[in-house]
Amino acid sequence: MQALIEIERLNLFYGSFQALKNVNMKIPEKAITAFIGPSGCGKSTLLRSLNRMNDMIQGTNIEGSIKISGTDIYGKDVDVETLRKKVGMVFQQPNPFPKSIYDNVAYGPRLHGIKSRQKLDEIVETSLRGAALWNEAKDHLKRSALSLSGGQQQRLCIARALAVEPDILLMDEATSALDPISTLKIEELAQELKDKYTIVMVTHNMHQAARVSNQTVFFLNGEVIEYADTEKLFSNPEDKRTEDYISGRFG
Ligand SMILES: Nc1ncnc2c1ncn2[C@@H]1O[C@H](COP(=O)(O)OP(=O)(O)OP(=O)(O)O)[C@@H](O)[C@H]1O
Ligand SMILES: [Mg+2]
Repeated sequence: MQALIEIERLNLFYGSFQALKNVNMKIPEKAITAFIGPSGCGKSTLLRSLNRMNDMIQGTNIEGSIKISGTDIYGKDVDVETLRKKVGMVFQQPNPFPKSIYDNVAYGPRLHGIKSRQKLDEIVETSLRGAALWNEAKDHLKRSALSLSGGQQQRLCIARALAVEPDILLMDEATSALDPISTLKIEELAQELKDKYTIVMVTHNMHQAARVSNQTVFFLNGEVIEYADTEKLFSNPEDKRTEDYISGRFG
């Protein structure tokens, strides 16, 4: 498999606190990579580094490099808006805008200058279909997004991310606020989306990582302890600490 994201010797500091320590990793294209590990080990920090969301946090310092398709995303010429268009993100709590379903999905494309009603209609339909929400939403596109259930709102947030045609989708515990059925729907959706997108997901749910991902990375205290094919990592981990964690002995 082709590596889309290459992380080399990455150190990240919040002030004097080092949250990531010498992280090296290649993330393959069109596959699902899961980040697991106990609370506070740096999973979200690394995820946010991939679309420079950490730029917004004062006092953050980063060393080393992250390349996407060969380009250092922390390089001088990088336009952060364009980067975030290419690297979409879905959060733990569904966070639709207090606008209609339609306007939520059309928001990004409009921001990027698309004005044609017909074009926007197309994007809204394709994105909602892509997020497995079209059938439930197509007759209520003018309704407030806040009228949707939590699971539907999360799929709407995925549709909103897809609407700007990203290459990469980052999901930070995107199902942890959802009921089991909505969770399964999002997991199935992720499986479908990986044919077109590269997905990196943080999860506390070991079963989810094992069910859904192709590669799993285990973190501890800001370090990558083990990175392997998911099947291998869960059936035959190399490191004792990985084994302890996946068997529920800590974290
Ligand atoms: N904005 C910040 N300022 C200072 N320290 C931070 C900030 N964000 C995170 N940290 C610290 O960096 C470390 C890693 O945090 P991070 O949020 O990446 O962990 P995580 O693995 O995602 O944890 P969780 O599973 O609880 O979400 C933690 O010790 C945390 O307290
Ligand atoms: Mg986190």
